[in-house]
Amino acid sequence: QDELYKKICEDYEDLIETLPKGKGWWVEHLYKHNGFWLAPIMVKNRLLLHTYFKSQPSDLFLASFMKSGTTWLKALMFSTINRHRYTISDHHLLRLGPQSTFPLMELEFDPTTDLTHLPAPRLFNTHLPLTLLPTSMTSCKFVYICRDPKDVLISKWYFTSKTRSKDLAPLSLDEVFELFCQGISECGPIWDHVLQYWRASLDSPDKVLFLKYEDLKKQPEVELRKLAAFMGKPFTVEEEEKGVVEDIVKLCSFESLSNLEVNKKGVNDFKVVEVENHLFFRKGEIGDWKNYLSEEMKERIDRITDEKLKGSGLIL
Ligand code: A3P
Repeated sequence: QDELYKKICEDYEDLIETLPKGKGWWVEHLYKHNGFWLAPIMVKNRLLLHTYFKSQPSDLFLASFMKSGTTWLKALMFSTINRHRYTISDHHLLRLGPQSTFPLMELEFDPTTDLTHLPAPRLFNTHLPLTLLPTSMTSCKFVYICRDPKDVLISKWYFTSKTRSKDLAPLSLDEVFELFCQGISECGPIWDHVLQYWRASLDSPDKVLFLKYEDLKKQPEVELRKLAAFMGKPFTVEEEEKGVVEDIVKLCSFESLSNLEVNKKGVNDFKVVEVENHLFFRKGEIGDWKNYLSEEMKERIDRITDEKLKGSGLIL
């Protein structure tokens, strides 16, 4: 076991030497690996996942590009799957917050992590693009959440400026904008990330559920019903009558979660980094980019989005 672990660490060191290097937002440098820009820890843990992660057919993955609504979906998936375990007034989420519910694999997984005791379906989160996941994982079900790239850019700039090491120079909006457009951003380019999961959802709708942040904001109950049915836990007529759908939507709303003590003062330990929970809640709105991007910036991003998504059937 130790020999194998050592070998993977050596392979990682060799690999990283060969990869193109770019500027990171959250970390100092990103490395381009099979078309995507990854933080070094992601490159390493991805190799570990390939060797050590043993998937189960009932596993459910939440995949997303950072800042697309992961925290919200974590809360919705966890509370929907576990709706018979907790009452709304005494809920795990109220005490410990969404980040505590299930792990972000490329940061929190290591070979010593025992996942065998978790009840089925096990829930996992990843920001990795589909083509960088171990093939054993890709036979599991995935829920993917996407969001207008302009809102992702602003949300990510805020988040990474707060979590970026104080030893590194802060990044200006102009700088992150340019990097974002070039695709240089943790797990970027965002367009390729989204498209991989989009195409998989078209090929295998029973395996990949593709959701949009904007739809969730506009019609949360409709999207939650879709999510529950996809996860194999559709709401019953009795639950509908009791208002369970509305209760879960309310429990997981921005207003509810952002006002919890644990999300105002708590910290989540992602093993390689600790992050203050409040940083996962900024505004939770559609179109806040309008307060930051010039008309020219907006047009440039929209043009890239149109070009990249042309012919895919996806509109962002
Ligand atoms: P903003 O920065 O635009 O406010 P992620 O969870 O993927 O890191 O994404 C964070 C973004 O989702 C932030 O967007 C955050 O405010 C928003 N968010 C977090 N919880 C939410 C919720 N319950 N409802 C709607 N948006 C939420």
